[in-house]
Amino acid sequence: MTILVTGGAGFIGANFILYCVERGLGPVINLDKLTYAGNLNNLDSVAERDGYLFVKCSIDDQSIVSELLVNHSVDAIVNFAAESHVDRSISNPEIFFENNVLGTLRLLETTRNYYSSLGRQQKERFRFLHISTDEVFGTLREQDPAFTEESQYRPNSPYAASKAASDHIVRAYGETYALPVITTNCSNNYGPYQFPEKLIPLIIHNALQGKNLPVYGDGKQVRDWLFVEDHCSAIHQVLGAGRIGESYNVGGNSEKQNIDVVHTICNILDSERPRADGRSYAEQVTFVKDRPGHDRRYAIDTSKVTRELGWAPRETFDSGIRKTVRWYLDNAAWVADVTSGAYREWVAKHYA
Ligand code: NAD
Ligand code: DAU
Repeated sequence: MTILVTGGAGFIGANFILYCVERGLGPVINLDKLTYAGNLNNLDSVAERDGYLFVKCSIDDQSIVSELLVNHSVDAIVNFAAESHVDRSISNPEIFFENNVLGTLRLLETTRNYYSSLGRQQKERFRFLHISTDEVFGTLREQDPAFTEESQYRPNSPYAASKAASDHIVRAYGETYALPVITTNCSNNYGPYQFPEKLIPLIIHNALQGKNLPVYGDGKQVRDWLFVEDHCSAIHQVLGAGRIGESYNVGGNSEKQNIDVVHTICNILDSERPRADGRSYAEQVTFVKDRPGHDRRYAIDTSKVTRELGWAPRETFDSGIRKTVRWYLDNAAWVADVTSGAYREWVAKHYA
């Protein structure tokens, strides 16, 4: 099965490509326009491997994407490409709608043309898998049941609204044009190669730099944490056996308050890389102004993907966060590389 991965130079896309190439799944074509979040160094280990190809291109470039689909007889598209950071969507919403909504629309339109040209057997094999988020469902109160696939869409941030819109377009292409689409809505991923603007890598990075550990509001917001390799295995299973036209919720069964996540990271660093003065990294925790429209709690009911596809996360939060902290300690050069230049400008402006 030849897979076109969009946004494959980003955090989850790169992990998914590594997952595929290391297991001999594919060939894989990585189509990425390399925004600030795209980093080809994530794929150094497979860059020269047979069965892997990188193309610098945006999902909305209909002529290049169309050529790639035809020339490589692509059997599946896994669409990760998006602007993904909620805080950036609050300071600059427009690019989220251009990129995540119009970009997805144009990619679907290109895919529809390609799909209509396929023979019966290749049509049966073909899938368009759209990677979405639990944020489309809005926020939960403490006592609410977790999000299911039937939960109402109530996006609260410009990012979530743009993802919700893209989910609806994907669904419409399935219903109207019989394009074989599937959507996954997953919770907060964490693990290797995550850009340090997101909570977990930001906290690890700031701690080691002796900087403040910024916690928004009271720090009691709850997220469900999914180790990225578990997410990759879920995507692989949905791609192989998910039902066309369906959506699947994917989560780590690991609900945690942000402040507990931050303290867990501090505890691990205290033992793995103690501060020179012998004090705890927790002393660097600083409560800062809350995010506008900050969702209080996300939680994912994974029973559908478990029942239908037998998928369940393998990592607990405890094991996943240890692996993640270890990875950042062992990959200081990667972190130094991505935290230069434009990254510093964003951090200075956002946390001013
Ligand atoms: P990321 O920001 O790390 O990477 C996004 C990648 O997409 C980058 O490489 C970027 O260059 C590329 N890209 C952006 N716009 C593009 C375009 N128009 N054409 C081609 N490439 C483009 O994001 P991520 O955290 O890896 O998230 C991947 C996907 O998963 C996103 O769609 C996001 O909404 C979704 N998601 C992420 C999480 C999470 O916790 N990170 C959770 C749920 C869903
Ligand atoms: O739920 C899935 C979503 O998870 C994905 O769709 C998004 O692409 C991804 O970015 C992530 O969104 P969040 O907003 O939940 O992730 P972030 O890492 O930005 O923040 C996690 C929580 O930590 C959130 O409650 C805000 C808080 N936070 C974040 C930062 C960056 C802080 O308290 N301090 C911070 O400095």
